[in-house]
Amino acid sequence: MTLFASVESSPVSLPHAPSKSLAQYVSKPSKYSLTHAAPSTTVTGTSSGLGKSLAEVVLHKGDIVVATLRKPSVLAPLTKQYPPTQLLLLPLDVTCPSDITAAFTRTQEVFGRLDVVFNNAGCTMTGEVESTADADARALFEVNFWGMVGVSRAAVKFFREVNPPGKGGILLQNSSMMSITGGAGIAFYSAR
Ligand SMILES: NC(=O)c1ccc[n+]([C@@H]2O[C@H](COP(=O)([O-])OP(=O)(O)OC[C@H]3O[C@@H](n4cnc5c(N)ncnc54)[C@H](OP(=O)(O)O)[C@@H]3O)[C@@H](O)[C@H]2O)c1
Repeated sequence: MTLFASVESSPVSLPHAPSKSLAQYVSKPSKYSLTHAAPSTTVTGTSSGLGKSLAEVVLHKGDIVVATLRKPSVLAPLTKQYPPTQLLLLPLDVTCPSDITAAFTRTQEVFGRLDVVFNNAGCTMTGEVESTADADARALFEVNFWGMVGVSRAAVKFFREVNPPGKGGILLQNSSMMSITGGAGIAFYSAR
């Protein structure tokens, strides 16, 4: 997981030790919260895997989660466990600019602030470069690169214009070891 922070004033020092568990990363709410209220985190791609697990860990801690995913019905069971004051489910396909705008607008309406945005949504594709269709490679980039860019722009705008002046926010990007080392048969994913 690659982390990068967008902070307007005092930089936040994030833990980098890879041996730390996910729970440890989110176990210090006072450090990441912009206010004395529970920190609020937006996660993309929460239907499964890492995104779903992170949303569940943060909710379990008692913090606020804006869980975004292409089919919100997938997470309907969570709405029975957590109240709407703690969990907001929003439809968000990261390749759809209007979805991104709508999700951040709704977050502002409901919570009025946002401490952390976690760009998690992503997809994988394997195959030789020479035998991969352009359309397939471009579709991967629409999610893994441009989707991340779209959400990041909206996050930074929110941090600057909606959060209290000078507070900023934290922007996290879920990348891959493959982006550093590369790997056979996974060139387009690695180029992320
Ligand atoms: N697993 C690993 O070993 C590993 C290692 C390094 C990095 N990562 C990265 O971690 C992230 C999560 O991976 P995972 O292993 O947890 O896989 P996963 O279970 O397949 O999760 C991927 C998530 O991204 C969502 N997604 C895909 N396209 C989307 C789109 N256009 N808009 C919004 N959401 C979209 C999927 O939603 P749908 O259900 O709607 O498709 C799903 O919720 C990915 O970015 C992946 O590249 C994973």
